[in-house]
Amino acid sequence: MKISLAPLQGYTDWVFRQAYEKCIGGVDEFYTPFLVLQNSGEIRTSHKREVEPFLERNNRLVPQFLSGSVEEFQFFETYLSDLGYEKMNWNLGCPFPMVTGKKKGSGLLPYPEKIKDILERGYSGKIDLSIKMRLGLEDKSEILSVLDVMKNFNIDEIIVHPRIGKQMYKGSADRDYFQQIQEGFNKVIGFNGDIETLDDFENLNAQLPNLNHVMIGRGVLKDYWLPAKIKGIEIPSADIRKKVLRKMYDEIFSTYTSFLSGDTQILQKMKPFWEYFSSHFENERKVYKGIKKSGGLKKYHEAVSFAFQQNVKE
Ligand SMILES: Cc1cc2nc3c(=O)[nH]c(=O)nc-3n(C[C@H](O)[C@H](O)[C@H](O)COP(=O)(O)O)c2cc1C
Repeated sequence: MKISLAPLQGYTDWVFRQAYEKCIGGVDEFYTPFLVLQNSGEIRTSHKREVEPFLERNNRLVPQFLSGSVEEFQFFETYLSDLGYEKMNWNLGCPFPMVTGKKKGSGLLPYPEKIKDILERGYSGKIDLSIKMRLGLEDKSEILSVLDVMKNFNIDEIIVHPRIGKQMYKGSADRDYFQQIQEGFNKVIGFNGDIETLDDFENLNAQLPNLNHVMIGRGVLKDYWLPAKIKGIEIPSADIRKKVLRKMYDEIFSTYTSFLSGDTQILQKMKPFWEYFSSHFENERKVYKGIKKSGGLKKYHEAVSFAFQQNVKE
């Protein structure tokens, strides 16, 4: 069973992934948050950082991109293969109206003929292609025609987050519908969505015994040892976990301060990090509240000290 870390824009950037790999481990494959091509025809520096410095340090990184045209698709395949990547991931899941309105992300799912055209004329096969997608934009049956198209291409892997775009993150991942589409498809599909505990994983695995890839996002951010639990690896004691969390935290903080400047920039990165990191501690709400309301680095450091005075959850 492959366990991968889902891409979460603003949370699973290279700083996080590198620290996680160094301090925790247990994730088999990492995905970058989506890269986009700007109107100027260039990629933002912050997006380049996701793929360019990481190359020698992690060969299990799969860069992800958004593309709604043949030209954009070709751009990313060339860019990523020139960097030496062996895999790339096309995002057909992003639900945000700014993206779907441009017929990108899950906004492409109602247009299987457009997906076919992009694959036919855009994908040259230089690197393996995987696709991460939702069930549809407006309706879950949209995926049926999309999978029909995909059957005819050499796609390395398909990962489905079984929600529709307009649902955003409401409701829950539709495992029954996932099972239905899996039964009608000729390849094993990776599963993503709402796996937050070992129990969640075990229930899923009981329902889908052929599963060979589970992608987890928020569940890993809230419990760094979830992949190890799934793999049956022994979990360190609470005391040791706290030390590891401290190491992870220090690693992240020092990496950000090495290239960002000023309280505002640093806090803009650290506050979202604590949104999930605080889940590891008792009194997590109080912990997060302290971090969230800290106005400058001095107050922020006090809130961090408070956090590490708490016990780590069992
Ligand atoms: C804040 C946030 C940012 C996300 N950014 C991306 C992204 O860049 N690319 C992508 O494919 N999915 C993105 N997702 C979706 C996640 O990868 C994943 O599909 C979703 O969170 C469900 O999985 P989970 O329940 O394990 O978190 C994002 C989700 C959240 C909450």
